[in-house]
Amino acid sequence: MTRPVRKAVIPAAGLGTRFLPASKAQPKEMVPVVDKPAIQYVIEEVAAAGIDDVLIITGRGKQSIEDHFDRALELEHHLEAGGKHDEAAEVRRLAQLATIHSVRQGEPLGLGHAVSVARQHVGDEPFAVLLGDDIMIDASVLRAMLGVYEQYGRSVIALKELPREEMRAYGCVRPEKVDDDLVRVAGIVEKPEPHEAPSNLAVMGRYVFTPEIFDALDRVQPGKGGEIQLTDAIELLRAEQTVYGYVFEHGRYDIGKKVDYLRATVEIALARDDVGPEFREFLVHLVQREKLY
Ligand code: UTP
Repeated sequence: MTRPVRKAVIPAAGLGTRFLPASKAQPKEMVPVVDKPAIQYVIEEVAAAGIDDVLIITGRGKQSIEDHFDRALELEHHLEAGGKHDEAAEVRRLAQLATIHSVRQGEPLGLGHAVSVARQHVGDEPFAVLLGDDIMIDASVLRAMLGVYEQYGRSVIALKELPREEMRAYGCVRPEKVDDDLVRVAGIVEKPEPHEAPSNLAVMGRYVFTPEIFDALDRVQPGKGGEIQLTDAIELLRAEQTVYGYVFEHGRYDIGKKVDYLRATVEIALARDDVGPEFREFLVHLVQREKLY
């Protein structure tokens, strides 16, 4: 019997240098995609996958993340008094999505370090990690990963095929095929040069870990870019226990990257019932006017 995954950790303490100037005085995780901050999509995904305990790893200047998921009584009263009941319900719903905790990373020493500060909260349990600037179109990937964890009782990381030239921006695995969408991780390296990349499978921002990842993180030395890399801890972990990779194809956006942010905004807006139809019409006109097609 595997222990159920009850907790999710969302690292959101990075400096967001790729998204400047928007990220200068506000967290990039709070940049809106249509009308919701990016991190709200992440927490809705966690909730849709049945996890209701969330720990956000924050840092300096990230207070607005905690405020966004807290009660806002004055605003709720104001909306109710003005007859805006739907809006009031939506504001209340945000504070009920999950039980949200936060802890500060202190210094952004790298993603691995951010995960390591979750140790006290997580304890000796399996847990999920979702990057606060990575959004998924729905919770299907996380649900499937939790299914793999339930079956094998081992850590699972999300993987996606990308062109080899893009590997220098990601963790990259050497896979051993288990099934159509499942591999065993036989090796993992952070941001390899394309000619050194062991495959074209890149690590995306979703993980399910056994608690042993914390011991591995304790042993990791600063790696690429002088940061404590989560990838290096996964390499240590997989030497001791199997780590699986769940391969998916679509629906992930790294909103810390400007072009991905634009793609997310367009695709998510098109899929919405309220703004979608009007936005589609606008896009069709735009494409014709600019002779894009
Ligand atoms: P990124 O590398 O995408 O975030 O980390 P970054 O460092 O903020 O971005 P750039 O490269 O400077 O633009 C992925 C996630 O991990 C968090 C980030 O907030 C982001 O959600 N992170 C990263 C931390 O929490 N702590 C860190 O030390 C580094």
